Amino acid sequence: MFVSAAFVLSLASLVTAQSTNPTLEIEAIQAHFSNAGLVPSLLPTFAPTAFFNLSYSGVGAISPGQKLTKDQVSPTPQLTVTPANDTVKLEGNYTLVMADADVVGTDESKGQTRHWLVNDVTLTGSSPFNVSTASGLAVTEYAGPAPASGSGAHRYVILLLPQGSDFTPPANLSTANVGVSVFNLEDYISTSKLGAAVAGTYITVEEGTATATPSPTSAVVTSTLPAAHASTAGASGTASSTAKTTTSTGNAAMSAQGLSTPLALLAAAFGIIMM
Ligand SMILES: *[C@@H]1O[C@H](CO)[C@@H](O)[C@H](O)[C@H]1NC(C)=O
Ligand SMILES: *[C@@H]1O[C@H](CO)[C@@H](O)[C@H](O)[C@H]1NC(C)=O
Ligand SMILES: *[C@@H]1O[C@H](CO)[C@@H](O)[C@H](O)[C@H]1NC(C)=O
Ligand SMILES: *[C@@H]1O[C@H](CO)[C@@H](O)[C@H](O)[C@H]1NC(C)=O
Ligand SMILES: *[C@@H]1O[C@H](CO)[C@@H](O)[C@H](O)[C@H]1NC(C)=O
Repeated sequence: MFVSAAFVLSLASLVTAQSTNPTLEIEAIQAHFSNAGLVPSLLPTFAPTAFFNLSYSGVGAISPGQKLTKDQVSPTPQLTVTPANDTVKLEGNYTLVMADADVVGTDESKGQTRHWLVNDVTLTGSSPFNVSTASGLAVTEYAGPAPASGSGAHRYVILLLPQGSDFTPPANLSTANVGVSVFNLEDYISTSKLGAAVAGTYITVEEGTATATPSPTSAVVTSTLPAAHASTAGASGTASSTAKTTTSTGNAAMSAQGLSTPLALLAAAFGIIMM
């Protein structure tokens, strides 16, 4: 009786933790952006207030930096956002963008290939909100990543940026069906007067074998994130899962293994149960 009650309690803790600890997820994504060199080379700063859950049909929810194949990223992904907490209000219209930041170490001042750009995106339902492009202006329709063979593991960044009342997109990116082309993400954000990204994530896609070795990135250790300490108080050392965005120098394959948050939280849940 007692054992089964404890088991039910641990499952309940796990389920609750999975769906209500967006702060840890957000901190992990932030750490991934820094460790993968996206901050400050692509974005000077990145302080999201919501967790971006991106999933591809046939793959499911991705973890930040996850390596996917060209085929896996060919369908338009589904997106949801979960605010960090109740004080974060997500209202109004947003711009959704996906840009190819190329391999680690790229000079981002030369611009990025734009794979998706939709203005007037809305958030529907309740948390986790669906990111709806249905009534938006699809400047550039989703075009699945297809990096050149041998060009290394490209980082594709997806951001959700708030449009204020002074939103002013450049004339050449203000109409539907502008094809995939190079633009400068940072210039676009500042010219358009978009707010700082409320949510973001990235994936990596590589074709063939890289002919150059990109700079290595460092691993994200979730147990070192502030929210991990907050949520595992008294159970320190149990949330020890790591999520690597490390490139192996031999074949330049990006081994972006998933963030094992459920595992870490399971450990934390049992830590609490055993006290
Ligand atoms: C809610 O989340 C925001 C954004 O991450 C943070 O700045 C704020 O401190 C949080 N508030 C509480 C009460 O946790
Ligand atoms: C992300 O969304 C998928 C469904 O698309 C869901 O199964 C998964 O639990 C979500 N992950 C988180 C951490 O909310
Ligand atoms: C959001 O975009 C829609 C469609 O363009 C527009 O009608 C609406 O006024 C916008 N809302 C805000 C708050 O800007
Ligand atoms: C959110 O998206 C899912 C999957 O596409 C759909 O089943 C659900 O009805 C949507 N909810 C709202 C409120 O739009
Ligand atoms: C839009 O015009 C600017 C110059 O005003 C140019 O730098 C940029 O490359 C153009 N973008 C596209 C997508 O044509």
